[in-house]
Amino acid sequence: CCLLLTLALLVPWDAASRKCDLQGLWRNELGSNMTILATNTAGAFSDSYHTVVAATNKQILVSPLQGAQQHPGAKRHPTFGFTVQWQFSDSTTAFVSQCFVDHRGKESLETTWLLREEVLSHKDTWKATRVGTAIFTRIK
Ligand code: BTN
Repeated sequence: CCLLLTLALLVPWDAASRKCDLQGLWRNELGSNMTILATNTAGAFSDSYHTVVAATNKQILVSPLQGAQQHPGAKRHPTFGFTVQWQFSDSTTAFVSQCFVDHRGKESLETTWLLREEVLSHKDTWKATRVGTAIFTRIK
C-alpha cells in the first residue's frame, strides 16, 4: 500500500517538474514530421524534417535540419531555433520556438517560421518571404 501511495504522490510531482526534452519525433497541425536527435552539451542538435506541404511542385524530400537550444538542460521551457535546408527547393526556412510542458508532462513546441523563397531579382524581395506559426506535439 505504501509503495502505491508513494508512486501516486511522486508521479504528478515528476510530471509537474519535468523539463522539456527536444529529442524525439514531432508532428505539427499540417501533418509534417520532424525528428530531433539529442542536443549536445552546447545545445546544438540536428536531424530531419519531412514536410507534407510545399510552395513548389517538386517532389518532396526529407530534408536536414540544424538548430540550437538555449541553456541546454537548465530550463523547463527552453527556447530554441533551427533551420531547414530543403533538398527539393531553393528556399530556406528558419524556425524560432519554445518548448512547453504542461502539468501532465505533455510537451508542445510553439514555433514561428519564416520561409525565404529564391527570387531572381531583389526587386521581387517584397514577395519572397512567408511567415507562419505551428505547434508540434510529440509522436515518439
Ligand atoms: C518549399 O516549399 O520551398 C519548401 C518546403 C516548405 C515547407 C513549409 S516550412 C513552414 C511550413 N510548415 C511545414 O511543415 N511546412 C511548411
